[in-house]
Amino acid sequence: MNILVVGGGGREHAIAYSLSKSLLIKKLIVAPGNPGIETFAKCYPIAVDDIDGQCKLAKDIKADIVFIGPEIPLVLGLKDKLSDIGINAFGPSKEAAQLEGSKTFSRNFCKRYNIPQPNFKYCSDLNTAKDQIELLNGYCVVKADGLAAGKGVVVCDTVNEAIEASTQMLEDNKFGDAGKSILVEERITGIEASVFAVSDGNTAIVLGTAQDHKRAYDNDQGPNTGGMGAISPAPALNEELNKNIFNNIIMPTINGMRSDGIPYEGILYAGVMLTDQGPKVIEFNCRFGDPETQVVLPRLRTDLVDIIHNTVTNNLENTPIELTDNTAITVVIASKGYPRTFKKGIELPSLNNLNKQDDIFIFHSGTAKNDNENLISSGGRVLSVTAIGNNVQDCRHKAYKAVEEINWNKGFYRRDIGKV
Ligand code: AMP
Ligand code: GLY
Repeated sequence: MNILVVGGGGREHAIAYSLSKSLLIKKLIVAPGNPGIETFAKCYPIAVDDIDGQCKLAKDIKADIVFIGPEIPLVLGLKDKLSDIGINAFGPSKEAAQLEGSKTFSRNFCKRYNIPQPNFKYCSDLNTAKDQIELLNGYCVVKADGLAAGKGVVVCDTVNEAIEASTQMLEDNKFGDAGKSILVEERITGIEASVFAVSDGNTAIVLGTAQDHKRAYDNDQGPNTGGMGAISPAPALNEELNKNIFNNIIMPTINGMRSDGIPYEGILYAGVMLTDQGPKVIEFNCRFGDPETQVVLPRLRTDLVDIIHNTVTNNLENTPIELTDNTAITVVIASKGYPRTFKKGIELPSLNNLNKQDDIFIFHSGTAKNDNENLISSGGRVLSVTAIGNNVQDCRHKAYKAVEEINWNKGFYRRDIGKV
């Protein structure tokens, strides 16, 4: 099969690597890809939001399936455009991707289908937001409705903080159109976990679970990031909780979307909080997580090409999905200053020796090559160093040994990924 992967970060490196192991692959193409992916797949410099460019590439390479990695092309309708030219894509349609693309859509949907979640109030003007904030005594979460690169959520303790966040979104245009309307949500507490299910619109199967470490610094200090590391399986989940999440969150979502005439195909990422009253939906994403993919896919035993092929042909029902019993941990090495301001274009040490180990995977999140063909940083999150092993201690030991060997003094990383 000819497969095109859309994307160029650590998540897409892990996806492409997993696909490359399959004997069913004839051609594996990634756009835009990155220098890590280039070592085993051909990359074309086409941006993820260049919908026409991605469609043309898919047609030129005679793609059988396009695996869409990030949310932006999904929300822009890449799957629908590919379908118009007769090409199958793994990922939800533009309409179904609203589960991530619009927080209001997602909350209203869960409400209609009794899927457990925090209470929320839709606000398109500041006065409505202020009333709600007062009602919750400022202990609330203010969210821009649309996509805001993970920055549109402000967890508030006080009335002033919440009013300031709402004002920035509704009146000061901080997130442009994404913040034209907001949600003021009840703030709930508990441990968080990410659950990744795959669905063909009818059947859903959990592919794996993970816990993300979102804050920049150790002990969950510092600003929120896209994720500084992850562990799989999620330590807080057990069989009973997994069943609860599957029966009360995943299946009702897949069934509800189908009844609404918007069948959901692809990865459904449920970010849940384990509260005293049981698991509740914090958010849905319409794609794999980054860096969670870098710990889920290295544990996958089933052929990923089989999974995506059976999804796009509506045949997931008889696809057993198996993961190893191993644990995996990934530690993100980020540019100093991330998630605020940081320099790009800084040279990276050689990774050649580490790439030869079976239980270590160095996924490229934000790298490029300079004119001398040397590896340089090109983003906030630069590398994602995954170790797979028998238990948490073993993984932590191996992952941190590799991170120390890389020894990039222009970067930083958290030292407590996976620590219990
Ligand atoms: P999101 O981008 O929706 O995942 O939100 C980012 C983070 O904000 C989540 O990982 C949670 O830690 C926190 N958060 C979001 N919504 C709520 C809520 N209703 N109550 C408590 N924390 C929340
Ligand atoms: N790591 C969080 C996300 O992918 O949304």
